[in-house]
Amino acid sequence: MSDIVILGIFVADTAYRADRQPKMGETILGTSFILGPGGKGSNQSVAAAMAGGKTSIITRLGKDAFADIARATWAKAGVMPHVTEDAESYTGAAYIFIENATGNNAIIVAAGAAGRISVADVEASRALIEGAKVFITQLEQPIPAAKRALEIARAAGVRTILNPAPAAPLEDDLLALCDIVTPNESETESLTGLPVTTIAEAEAAADALLARGVGACLITLGERGALYRDRTRSVHVPVISAGKVVDTTGAGDAFNGGFAVALTEGRDVVDAVRFGCATAGISVTRPGTAPAMPSRAEIEALLAAQG
Ligand code: RIB
Repeated sequence: MSDIVILGIFVADTAYRADRQPKMGETILGTSFILGPGGKGSNQSVAAAMAGGKTSIITRLGKDAFADIARATWAKAGVMPHVTEDAESYTGAAYIFIENATGNNAIIVAAGAAGRISVADVEASRALIEGAKVFITQLEQPIPAAKRALEIARAAGVRTILNPAPAAPLEDDLLALCDIVTPNESETESLTGLPVTTIAEAEAAADALLARGVGACLITLGERGALYRDRTRSVHVPVISAGKVVDTTGAGDAFNGGFAVALTEGRDVVDAVRFGCATAGISVTRPGTAPAMPSRAEIEALLAAQG
């Protein structure tokens, strides 16, 4: 049994650094390339395990070399895998462009076998979900599987977190299964149709999501930190910097993983947001996604230095 159970995908990240993206029909020279573990669900599970959470991932992999990377990544981080092996598909990959000047990214993800995660896969892990303190999922695997897992978690009294990434249209009955949703600015805009360029706009967009049935809205705001808003509290938590930003890919995953760990430890939700911000603040100072996730000691040292 695990305190944190995550339904999501693993893919191999192929990350290219360059000064700019190529235009259609153009070839440009990049400055570096790294192959490493990725996928939002897997990254979040690594972040949570590294931050000290007893963590399981439910997913689907092909039978290939990228699947071997997944298993090695989870073994190193201490994540417990619950994998459906799918010999009829392949373990997916992501193309990641990282802009040299800013460390910002643009991503195409092809989920492969994990794009075939089914309701039956979720039902097979029902007891695991029911035994968790916190359940997290995202939108990289099919939505019916995410919805079924949220239903099982909700019925068992498990705290539910939906990281609605990448953005997709969502029904209100799915949103109503979420204790907390954790979109970034662009995902919030996509979900609500409202602009999110200021804190006041983020508050208005959070209200729109609360009106659709979510228990609380936690919007990640990049270099401005995060906004937590529920029906009684609204708190803006500033970014917690750990140094120069080299790669923002996976920052949201670091945040979700760290936040979940702090919640399972019974911390107040705003304290948990600060823990998530510290986890993300360290991750962006390093290249890669899962390999950039900090240890518990690093997160605590950063928070202690904040006073
Ligand atoms: O959030 C970052 C992740 O999104 C990358 O690791 C990539 O694989 C995509 O899933």
